[in-house]
Amino acid sequence: MSSMPSSSPPSAGTPRRVEHQQTDKGYVPVYTTDVVRQPWDDYTATDHDVWRQLFARQRRLLVGRASDEFLLAQDAMGMTPDAIPKFDDLNTVLEKATGWSLVGVEGLLPELTFFEHLANRRFPVTWWIRKPEQLDYLAEPDLFHDLFGHVPLLMNPMFGDYMQAYGRGGVKAHGIGADALVNLTRLYWYTVEFGLIRQQDGLRIYGSGIVSSKGESIHCLESDAPNRIGFDLERIMRTRYRIDTYQKTYFVIDSFEQLMDATGPDFTPIYARLATQESYPAGTVLDSDRVFHRGSGEGWATDADV
Ligand code: PHE
Ligand code: CO
Repeated sequence: MSSMPSSSPPSAGTPRRVEHQQTDKGYVPVYTTDVVRQPWDDYTATDHDVWRQLFARQRRLLVGRASDEFLLAQDAMGMTPDAIPKFDDLNTVLEKATGWSLVGVEGLLPELTFFEHLANRRFPVTWWIRKPEQLDYLAEPDLFHDLFGHVPLLMNPMFGDYMQAYGRGGVKAHGIGADALVNLTRLYWYTVEFGLIRQQDGLRIYGSGIVSSKGESIHCLESDAPNRIGFDLERIMRTRYRIDTYQKTYFVIDSFEQLMDATGPDFTPIYARLATQESYPAGTVLDSDRVFHRGSGEGWATDADV
C-alpha cells in the first residue's frame, strides 16, 4: 500500500479527536495525523446500511447530473451499494489504473500533512461513516464523502495528475505563507469540492462535495439561485465561499485538460499579485465573468462568507 507507518485503530466508532483548530474554514476538529488500518470487521450492520442507502440514493440522482467521467470511474472501481468497500480491494484497482492509493485516517488532517499525502499520490480516506440521522448533512468529511465523492476520479489519469500537482502546490504555498494558502484553498473548494464541467449535453457535476450531497446535487444544476460562471483561475483564487450553506457560485470547467493547463504555471507570482487585492464575496458577478447563469440570489444567507 505505502511506506506510511500503521497504527492499530481505536475501538470501533470512536475517532480519536485530539484538538480543535481555527482555520479559514472556521473552527474545525483536527484528528490524529496517523495513517490507520481500516477497521473493516468492526463496521456494524447499521454502518453498512448507511452506505447502502446513500450509495443507492446518490447513484440514482447522479445519472444525468454527474459527469460521465465520474460515473464511469465509479463503475470501473467496482464500488457497489452492497457493503462498505475495503480500501485494500479498491487499492488493487486504483494502483493499477493510476498509481494512487488510499490510506485510512481519522478525519480532517492539518493542511501540510494532507498536501504531503496528495503529493505522493496517497488519498486520505476517513474510515468512519456517518450515523443514520446524518444522511442529508454532516459538518465534516466521513467515509461516504471521501470514498464515494473523491476516490472515483482518481481513476482518471488527468484528474489524478491534477490532485498530485495540487498537493505539491500546497506544500509550496505552505512555505510561502497563510495568504497563499487561502488562495490555493479556494481553488480546491471551487474545483475538487464544488466544480461543474461542461459536457456535450450540458452542465454536469464533478465536485466531491456536491456528488456526496443529495440536496446540492439538485441545487447546483437546477436552482435559479446560484451563479454558474466559467472557470478563471485568479478570479476563483480571489473568491470567498460558503461552508455551511449551498454555494452561491459554481465555476464551470470545459474539460479536465483546461484545468490542468490553467494550473500548470508557477503560482508564486500570482500569490504575490493577489496579496494586494481585495477578495470577492461568494455571490459576486463581475463584468469580466463568462456567465452561464446569473443567480437570483434567492435564499442566500446574508452573513459573511469565509
Ligand atoms: N502550479 C501550481 C503552483 O505552482 C501547483 C498547482 C497545480 C496547484 C495544480 C493547484 C493545482 O503552485
Ligand atoms: Co472533500
